[in-house]
Amino acid sequence: MPNIAIIGGQWGDEGKGKIVDLITPAFEIVARFNGGHNAGHTVIRGDRKLVLHLIPSGILHEGVRCVLGPGLVIDPQALEAEAREVEALGIDVWANLIVSDRAHVLLPHHRALDLMSEERKGSGKLGTTGRGIGPCYEDKAARRGLRICDLLLRDRIDAKVAAIREHFEALCRGYGVTRDLDWKKTADDLEAFGARIAPRVRDVSALLHREMVEGYSVLFEGAQATLLDLDHGTYPFVTSSSAGIGGVVTGLGVPPSRIDGVLGIVKAYTTRVGTGPLPTELKDAVGEGLRERGGEYGATTGRPRRCGWFDAVVARYSARVNGFDGIVLTKLDVLDPLEEIPICVGYRYRSTRLDDIPADVTIYEDCAPIYENMKGWNTPTGDVREWKDLPPQARDYIKRIADLVGVEVPLVSVGPDRDASVIDLNARTSSWLRA
Ligand code: IMP
Repeated sequence: MPNIAIIGGQWGDEGKGKIVDLITPAFEIVARFNGGHNAGHTVIRGDRKLVLHLIPSGILHEGVRCVLGPGLVIDPQALEAEAREVEALGIDVWANLIVSDRAHVLLPHHRALDLMSEERKGSGKLGTTGRGIGPCYEDKAARRGLRICDLLLRDRIDAKVAAIREHFEALCRGYGVTRDLDWKKTADDLEAFGARIAPRVRDVSALLHREMVEGYSVLFEGAQATLLDLDHGTYPFVTSSSAGIGGVVTGLGVPPSRIDGVLGIVKAYTTRVGTGPLPTELKDAVGEGLRERGGEYGATTGRPRRCGWFDAVVARYSARVNGFDGIVLTKLDVLDPLEEIPICVGYRYRSTRLDDIPADVTIYEDCAPIYENMKGWNTPTGDVREWKDLPPQARDYIKRIADLVGVEVPLVSVGPDRDASVIDLNARTSSWLRA
């Protein structure tokens, strides 16, 4: 099996968790390259629903090794709490989880800063997950951050925590606020955590290199999505990591030549949590219907997701930035009862037509979608398992999306269960999905 990357093609929550879970049996290693516990990957197993935030969903498959790469920010408490949840399913998490020595450690003050910064922005807030992700990446970029490799030495922890505290308190003074944090406890907890995970800490780039040379296959699991990518997303309404394909290279230490294929995951409509532009947003009963049928509530924060029609400009942009070989279209069944389904094929900005995403978010916010109407199929698709059994209007809808985005659709998902998946056996990339 080639090494394949799974990348979100919209604003996150496209259903990457299910697709990773579905195809993991064909891989020996699943490696996450960006973000932290802001992600929420929902996996359904029979009547059990598990939401993973940090640990790759590959962990549910026996013998598959799961890697947290250097590009991640890891909250020790969140990681250990999640590991306990997975262990409750009878899975030996620590036997198969590998943590990068270069990943950054997310500390309690990062959470405090995230909340403070959102509060200060008032109506201009980003709508972050409040997990401290942005401030942790800020410390990383400012070269103040604490990394997993630092946790093995108490002196190092103390020195770094002291420098981080000094900076945090200077910020608080500037903001005119006080935040009393127990820094001694933070350092003690870090030392204890460092000792516990030491046996699972590795140079991830070297490990992946060795394994790939041996012929093992790696699934690169993206968190968040292209439109939330720090460089390529709708800045500043983005997360603070590289959620697109570039993140595989920087966040794992894997050369581009080792990425054999890229699959984009896109929903059959569009959703977004948090603030920022969403041209096809439906603020009416139709949008409410998508939210209810699609269960569109944040897996991490429980916030209602904003819902709208499929935006082909967004998907085409993502396909270009990431070099998608194919797109997996998820949650097609959510559109089942609709008589008519608009697809956004371009934007109108004042009197100009735009066929790409503008860099300036104020221009993007003023863009109106140009729609093309497709016929709905008005038939349940949740039980469909073969391409030929999809209603003709659904096949037309998928084909139109493939044409507009310029890449094939090897799989559509028609429900949360693993087997609620319809593969187009004629698609070149479908072999990557048949584990
Ligand atoms: P942060 O990553 O918590 O800093 O949040 C920045 C933006 O990214 C906010 O709009 C969040 O709602 C969004 N975001 C972060 N993680 C996810 C995710 O896993 N799915 C969807 N949106 C996300």
